[in-house]
This record gives sequence, structure tokens and C-alpha cells, in this order.
Amino acid sequence: MTANLEVARKLLADAPNVVSFSGAGLSAESGIATFRDPDGVWKQVDPTVYASAQGFQSQPTAVSAWYAARRRTLADTTPNDAHRALARSGWQSHITQNVDNLLERAGAPNVVHLHGTLDSDRCHAGCGYVVAVDLARPPSLSTCPDCGAMLRPNVVWFGEMLPASAWATAESAIQRADVAVVIGTSAEVWPAAGLIAEARKVISVNTERTYAGRWATVELIGSAATILPMLVTAADPNIR
Ligand code: OAD
Repeated sequence: MTANLEVARKLLADAPNVVSFSGAGLSAESGIATFRDPDGVWKQVDPTVYASAQGFQSQPTAVSAWYAARRRTLADTTPNDAHRALARSGWQSHITQNVDNLLERAGAPNVVHLHGTLDSDRCHAGCGYVVAVDLARPPSLSTCPDCGAMLRPNVVWFGEMLPASAWATAESAIQRADVAVVIGTSAEVWPAAGLIAEARKVISVNTERTYAGRWATVELIGSAATILPMLVTAADPNIR
């Protein structure tokens, strides 16, 4: 670990352009469950119901109530040391698969959400209506004021396209970067995981080895909230 940490620090010290690419492990130490760990979300509920358009159409009230509970949990939590380290890192952008807003609340600039966010709803029929949601007081199932269809969380579900502008921004950022720091993702969900392959150099930060390791120049095994503050301090000695 110590040797790998030194390799990672050297890579960052020599890299003028760094991006982060994160998954659920980044927010785990804020108390937000990951998806595929043994206590993960998809071990507790069926993603074909709670993360698909078909599931929402067949059980809209249950799906809406589940997202309301997730929103309240998010409202009650705070960024952890990993989010805070990224916010002060000076790295160019922060590409995330996470639908929480903890990077923004920590003060990170240029956050790119590949899988949407929980802080808005949109028209399920795709008429274009989008409305901000108060995470502490999330709405129950409601209808689109423009077209009357159901409103749904503004997140990407299985089988759906990623937001085109977020994808274009993320791909351009990762291709320009000298190093991508990949944090807390199983790298099992595509097309997002494919972005890692486009990076010139990859530092992987995870509590275990993952598919991201196949692209990694160096793998740091440990928790994001422990490792990221060590990396960021190394990246810029003026930052504490
Ligand atoms: P996963 O649950 O698939 O993976 C979480 C990763 O975080 C695992 O590799 C863990 O080992 C790691 N991890 C857990 N705790 C950690 C910690 N404290 N520090 C560092 N790493 C830690 O989550 P994602 O890769 O984000 O999609 O999943 C990708 C997508 O699958 C999500 O965006 C979501 C889900 O279905 C949508 O909602 C569209």
C-alpha cells in the first residue's frame, strides 16, 4: 500500500490535468449504501422493479415511495472526507455515476452526473418537463403539469440512454486528462465503465480489487475517505 501510494502521488505530481471518476463507494462513508456490496441496495430490492421504466410503470406508487425514502436519507447525510478532499483537490472535473449531490455540497466544481440526480423529477413520457425536488420533503407520485403523464426521478434506469451532454462532457474530460482517479466503483455498469478505458493513466481507489484494475496503473486498496485526503495533499503541497 505504501509503495503504491508513492507511485500514485508521483503520477499526480506530474499530471497537470486530473479528473475523478466515482461510484457508490465514494458516498459509502456518508452512510449511503452501495449497490453490489453484500449489504448493497440491489441485494435488498429488485432493480428490475426499482430501476427500470417497466418497473415504474407496473408499480409507480411503490417505486415513487422508495425514491422518496432515498431522498430523505440523502437530505439527512453529509459529505465525507473523500468528497471534501476532491472539492479541494484542484482537479479539473469530477465525473460521477452517483445520483446524490454530496460532491456539490462539499464544494467540488465541474461535477458531471452520468446517471442523473435525485434532486429533480422529470416527465416519464419525455415531454421535457423537469422540476426541482426538495430532498427533505420529496413529493409522492404526481403528474406532469404539461402533459399529464407520471413524474419520475431524473435518474438513468437500466436500459436507458445516458444524458447526451453529460456523456460528451465526461468523455472529453477523461480523454484530455493525464490521470483519472477512479473511486469506489465496481466498474460493472456500462457504458459508464467504458470511460475508464479511455483514460491515459488510472489510479484506482477501492476497498477491494475490481474490474477497474484492468486499466489501472496503480491500485490503492482501502477506503475512499482515508486514501483521498492522502492523495490530494500530495497533489498540491499548498493544500491542507
Ligand atoms: P457498486 O455498488 O457496483 O460498487 C461500489 C464499489 O465501491 C465496490 O467496488 C466496493 O468495493 C466499493 N466501495 C465500497 N465502500 C467503499 C469505500 N468506503 N471506499 C472505497 N470504495 C468502496 O456501485 P457503482 O459502481 O457506483 O446505476 O454502480 C454503478 C451503477 O450501478 C450505479 O450508478 C447505479 C447502479 O445500478 C444507476 O442507478 C443507473
